[in-house]
Amino acid sequence: MKNLLFSPSMMCADFAQLAAETQKLDEAGADMFHIDVMDGVFVPNFALGPGDIACIRASTSKPIDVHLMIEDSFRYCELFVSLGADIIYIHPEADKHPARTLAAITSLGKTPGLAINPGTSLESVKELLNLCDFVLLMTVNPGFAGQKYIPFVTDKLQRLTEMKSSYGFKIVVDGAISDSKVRELGALGADAFVLGTSALFGKARPYKDIISELRQPI
Ligand code: DX5
Ligand code: ZN
Repeated sequence: MKNLLFSPSMMCADFAQLAAETQKLDEAGADMFHIDVMDGVFVPNFALGPGDIACIRASTSKPIDVHLMIEDSFRYCELFVSLGADIIYIHPEADKHPARTLAAITSLGKTPGLAINPGTSLESVKELLNLCDFVLLMTVNPGFAGQKYIPFVTDKLQRLTEMKSSYGFKIVVDGAISDSKVRELGALGADAFVLGTSALFGKARPYKDIISELRQPI
C-alpha cells in the first residue's frame, strides 16, 4: 500500500483529556491532527475552539490541519496561524473570494487547503486547484461526526485523481472513513484520510493497533 497519511479528527477525541489523547495519537503514529472549526452558520454545529487548538499544539510537534467550516474565513487566517495551524482548509462555498483567502494563507507561510462539499462540483472550483496544496474531499455533509458515507463522492474522487498530476495537490478524504474505505479510496488515488468515529475513536482497541493496521497492505 502506498504510504498513506492519517489525520485523527480531534472533535471525536476525549475532551476530558485532550492533551493526553493528542500525545497518545502522536505515539500511535498519527501523521497530523485534524481540527474542525465551526461557526454554527456555515454548518449547524460548533466543534473545536482556540483553547482546544492551543492545547493540541502544545501536545505534539506534528502538523496540525485546521478545517474551517466558517463563513468568510479570510477574517481569521492570522488567528489560526498564530494558534499553530500548518494546513488551513477553507470552503469555497463559504467565502466570497476563496482565491484571495488561499493566497493569504500562502503569504502567511502556511499550506493552503481547499475543502469541497459533497454537492460542490469539481468544475466550479477548478481554478482554485492552482492555489492549494491539499484538497479535502468531503464524503459527508460537513458539521458532524458519525454520519454515513455519501456514495456519489467516490466517482468525484476518481475524477479528482485524474486532475492531480496537472495541479500537484494531494487528496485528503474527510468523513465516515472506515478501514474498508481507506483501502477502497486509497486504491482510487486518495493520499490521506481524516480518521474519526468510523475507524479510530470509540473502538475497544489501542490507537496504535488501529493505525498500524490501516497502514498494512491489503
Ligand atoms: C465532519 C468532520 C470529520 C469527520 C469525523 O465535518 O470534518 O472530521 O466526519 O469522522 P467520522 O465521520 O468518521 O465520525
Ligand atoms: Zn473535518
